[in-house]
Order: sequence, then structure tokens, then C-alpha cells
Amino acid sequence: MKLLWMLVVAIVAATACNKSSDKIKVGHYASMTGSEATFGVSTDQGIRLAAEERNKAGGVKGKQVDIITGDTASKATEGGTVVTRLITQDNVVALLGEVASSITLAGGDVAQKLGVPDITPSSTNVRVTDLGDMVSRVCFTDDFQAWVVAKFVRDNLKFDKAAILYDQGQAYSKGFAEFFNKSFTAMGGEIVANEAYSGGNPDASAQLQTIKGSGAQIIFLPGYYGDAANFMKQAKSKGIEIPFIGGDGWDSEDLIKIAGAAANGNYFSNHYSHEEKRKEVQDFVAAYKAKYGKVPDGLAALGYDAARVLFDAMDRAGSLEGKALGAAIAATKDFKGVTGNITMDAKRNAQKKAVILKIENGAPHLVTDIWPEGTGPAEKAPAPEKKPADGSGSADAAPEKK
Ligand code: PHE
Repeated sequence: MKLLWMLVVAIVAATACNKSSDKIKVGHYASMTGSEATFGVSTDQGIRLAAEERNKAGGVKGKQVDIITGDTASKATEGGTVVTRLITQDNVVALLGEVASSITLAGGDVAQKLGVPDITPSSTNVRVTDLGDMVSRVCFTDDFQAWVVAKFVRDNLKFDKAAILYDQGQAYSKGFAEFFNKSFTAMGGEIVANEAYSGGNPDASAQLQTIKGSGAQIIFLPGYYGDAANFMKQAKSKGIEIPFIGGDGWDSEDLIKIAGAAANGNYFSNHYSHEEKRKEVQDFVAAYKAKYGKVPDGLAALGYDAARVLFDAMDRAGSLEGKALGAAIAATKDFKGVTGNITMDAKRNAQKKAVILKIENGAPHLVTDIWPEGTGPAEKAPAPEKKPADGSGSADAAPEKK
């Protein structure tokens, strides 16, 4: 009896072993539930589309890729726990995630310590890749994103007085607010109110009252979509008619579902627009729509890009061991992504353009794109100035020229 039992254990172990060695396991740690659930769900869909396409084409190094998703429930405190589990129990060779910078700061730290490469699709806080050489990203950073928003407010909207309303509990929001303050002031603008809130609290009436009396022409709200939507509604009910402008953290269909008509007329910066004419964008939008029946948001596009950058690095790496794979990721050059060409700089950040979207009739539309200074199509071939006087310039103001 005992012998038989041992045999069963041995067979089970051998099968499990076989299973793990004929697949390449990649962990995705993500907010699948909680206050930022659309971030995780969209990213996961983008990643799974990329894996499915790769597997159909033969996989990576002749093996199929298996994506294992771990839910962080939108909590920074879960970041480290979920990453530890994915590495030590699921034996993933690489990680994708998180979206929210505070969660990546926690999860990426564990990945760094355990020597497993982590590519974040979309965490923009500058400190994220300071965690070490195992951590990289396929998106731009918030010093750039803040400069983009400040430039749009000054040059396109021509406003010189802005209020800031930021989430004091999120690394993303705090950093983004500080960089905006610096850039906007350097561009001759004035911050007339600087108010904080705590994510998840739908009431910002005291802060909005202060902003109302400040003379601000626009409210910069570098937060996540749920809070942003609540404050848009609350501002309207207080008779505040000036627009809001935010960043990538607004990128969720739930923003418009929650805010309703109060979302219209507001602007935000983002990583891509499904309205861009580039082939990479249109091919991805078509494949995503066919699989999921809806238009992909920026998170889905970044998840797709992060997964494809990882597979590309796996192709080039001598082995999938942490150091070798991490070095191959860091060497990514001119990868043709949906969200733009991806080249890792010395700190494993990608330098890319941002887009400005305006919400109109319940949907975000492309207004313009803004490139890092000294790069982009304008520098390669001088193009006529594209500055819509009221910021509502046409959606096709620039992208076709690329
Ligand atoms: N950039 C945000 C952060 O770092 C996350 C985010 C990216 C949200 C893209 C939406 C879209 O926290």
C-alpha cells in the first residue's frame, strides 16, 4: 500500500514537472478587483491577446507561454505578497505589472530582490525603475507626462492659472502633481490652489470650494478614474464650470459611466488613442475588437506591448534565467509597439510621445500628440505649427504625419 502511494506521488510529481517544463510561465500581477479593477482587467486582456498570438505562431523558444494572473485587489499592500507567490509557488520566469505605481513599487521591489525581471506596462512614477536592474517599463514617466499637460494648458488652452487636486495616498498622483507644479510654473503659469484628497473618499467639497474661490481657469486632477469621476460630478453640482485636466489614470470606461455628462469638456493625457492611423494601432484595435468585442483602452495597448517586448527579449536572451533575461529586456531597441516605438534608455524607461484626449459626447477623442523635446516628427521634418486656438483642434492634427 505504501509503495503504491509512493508511486502515485512520483507520477503526480513527474507530470507536474513535465507540465512546468514544457511551458514558459509568466506572472501578471494586477488589480483585477477593487477600486481600479478596470486597469487590471484591460491590461490582462491585452497581455492574453499577445500571448495567444505568440502561441499560435509557435510560442517562445519552441514552448507555449502560460500567463498566470495574480489579483492585487488595487492594494499596494498586496503587491509584494502576490509577486512572492507568483515567483515562489508558480515559478514564473518573468513578471508583467502592475499598473498603479504604488503597487509596482511594492511588487517590483520583491521581483528585484528575488532576481526575476518585471516589466511594468504602465506605472509612470519616476521612482519605479530606481528599484533596480530587474525592473523596466514600456511607458513614459511622469516628469514627461506633467510637462506635456502643462504645455498643453499653456500653449493650447492658453490658461495661466491652474488649481491642483491630487491623491495624497498614491505615489503616482503625488509625483505627477509635483512635476506639473514645476513645469507649469516654469512656463509662466501660476498654481492658485493646491489641494489633497484621499482616494476612495467621494467627497471633495471643501477642496472644491477653495478651488472655486481661487481664480483657477482649470483644475489639474492627477488621480485615478473613480475619484476623478466623483469630483467632476461634485464640481458641477457646486456650479464650477471650469474644465478638469488629468493624466493616464483617467483611462477607464468607468470614468464616463460614473461621471456621465459631467465628464464632457475635460481633457487628459494618455499613452495612445485607438483613433491613431498607424498600422500597429489599427491592427491591434481590430484583433482586440474581434476577441473582446470592444475598443481597447490605453491599458490594454500597454499590456499588449509589455508582453510582446518580453517575448522579444526572451527570443534574444541566451537563457530565461533572471540576469540574462533582464539584460535582454534592457537592450530593447526600436521595438514597434502599439503605443509607439520602444527603446529602453539607461534607466530602462521608454521615451515616447503622449496624446491629449478630450472627452466629448461621452467618449475620449484625440486632440493632439506631444513628443519629448528634440524628438518626434516635427524635428525630423519641420511641420506647420499645430496649435488649435481653443484646444479643441481636430483629431487628425498630427498622427498621419508619422
Ligand atoms: N500611470 C499610472 C500610475 O503609474 C497608471 C495608469 C497607466 C493608469 C495608464 C491608467 C493608464 O499609477
